[in-house]
Amino acid sequence: MTSIKACLFDLDGVLVDTAKYHYLAWKRLAKDLGFTFTEQDNEKLKGVSRMASLDILLGLGGLEFGDAKKQDLAERKNGWYVEAISKMDHSEILPGALEFLKACRDNGIKTALGSASKNAMTILDNTGLTPYFDAIIDGTHTTNAKPDPEVFLLGAAALSVPPGQCVVFEDAEAGVEAAHRAGMRCVGVGSPATLGQAEAVVPSLQEMTVERLNELSIVR
Ligand code: BG6
Ligand code: MG
Repeated sequence: MTSIKACLFDLDGVLVDTAKYHYLAWKRLAKDLGFTFTEQDNEKLKGVSRMASLDILLGLGGLEFGDAKKQDLAERKNGWYVEAISKMDHSEILPGALEFLKACRDNGIKTALGSASKNAMTILDNTGLTPYFDAIIDGTHTTNAKPDPEVFLLGAAALSVPPGQCVVFEDAEAGVEAAHRAGMRCVGVGSPATLGQAEAVVPSLQEMTVERLNELSIVR
């Protein structure tokens, strides 16, 4: 079995609970547009890029707009979201995340961020997570959204670790697929009901250890 040399982490829903802020901002936009957006609807947007999320939201509301208007709506949503994340601090790091990042580095395992978000740096800086990464790849570095493997391939390249020696941590189905398309193993963080394709699923990073990493036996 190939030993693990690097861990690549999704941000929203794996290291921090920003899904609630995305939800509140999309809900506010939907309200302005005259329809209701539920927490269940929000599940469809997890791991999905900003513009693709807007398309899904508009679809739910039965609305269609041109590119300029869509850009304006996405900017409006992002303004509210940025306002919310600007108030984030260390206390919003999800249970076990910091401990596991530290354990990786203490054991010589490299760490990278692999996020679709263009706001990742604000979140990492406000929560104090920035120093725990050897490489940071976010939505400002990529052109193709998950399930495209680009974000994770860029992460592995930045760490100089072959994909087969990387493990991805993801809370979204599209992210699990992106990891597999990159030739990496994946640990789902959340429920086996949605993340069943991953090699292992943990409820949170609190249940993850460096020892468990080496038990991920499937090599793709
Ligand atoms: C992902 C989130 O990490 O980032 C999505 O799961 C979000 O909900 C996407 O739409 C893009 O984020 P941002 O901050 O660039 O709008
Ligand atoms: Mg996520």
